[in-house]
Amino acid sequence: MKNQFPQSASRALHEKVKTAKKRKNSSVRWLERQINDPYVIAAKKQGYKSRAAYKLIELNEKFKFLKPGLKVLELGSAPGAWTQVNVNILGKNNVWCIDKNQMELIEGSFFEKINVLDEMVFEKLDKFIKQKVDIIESDMAASSTGHSRTDHLRTMSLCEASYDISINFLKNGGTFISKVLQGGTENDLLIKLKESFVNVKHAKPKSSRKESSEMYVIATNFRGKI
Ligand SMILES: C[S@@+](CC[C@H](N)C(=O)[O-])C[C@H]1O[C@@H](n2cnc3c(N)ncnc32)[C@H](O)[C@@H]1O
Repeated sequence: MKNQFPQSASRALHEKVKTAKKRKNSSVRWLERQINDPYVIAAKKQGYKSRAAYKLIELNEKFKFLKPGLKVLELGSAPGAWTQVNVNILGKNNVWCIDKNQMELIEGSFFEKINVLDEMVFEKLDKFIKQKVDIIESDMAASSTGHSRTDHLRTMSLCEASYDISINFLKNGGTFISKVLQGGTENDLLIKLKESFVNVKHAKPKSSRKESSEMYVIATNFRGKI
């Protein structure tokens, strides 16, 4: 499997859902978006678990943090598209993944069902990975309530939990990547990140839907736990 976005998948398509009459409007809209989305089509073609693979590929093309042999901990890894990209580049047995939901194991990675908001999360991670890692990636999002302010606050609490994990499980010099939702409180996280990492940048990959307020923060060169 090659880590790239096939250009043939980017041509504009406008297919309609054939069973639209029997479905709710929201489900028709979702299905139409899926069947016309070039990243969904490309993911299917290239054998990725989801279109999310292209977000990590794009971030890595820009910031070049994935290198063979480095060790990564993924937070919120299901269904495993980022895991596939990570294993392809870092190699086998270098990728540890957790999710609050069960995930089908991606060959060459390790998985454990752990909720980052669990009060025993540090102990559970210690037992699972038994070492510090070079990169911590979080693609977690709280499930949508339909109320954007609530969704923002819930996802930002996941970012805060990921930050605390990164402080405890990243090697000095390590990299932290996290999905954030724009909406106000991301500045609090940014202040902490700037204290703990030498460089902090934001990016919105092309494969991240324009209408979504999601962005990614890329913090490099961890200063170490104080
Ligand atoms: C957008 S998906 C991740 C997609 C993944 N990066 C991929 O490429 O397949 C977000 C994931 O975060 C997980 N998640 C949300 N809250 C979590 C929590 N508190 N602890 C662990 N995982 C969580 C969800 O179960 C979901 O699988």
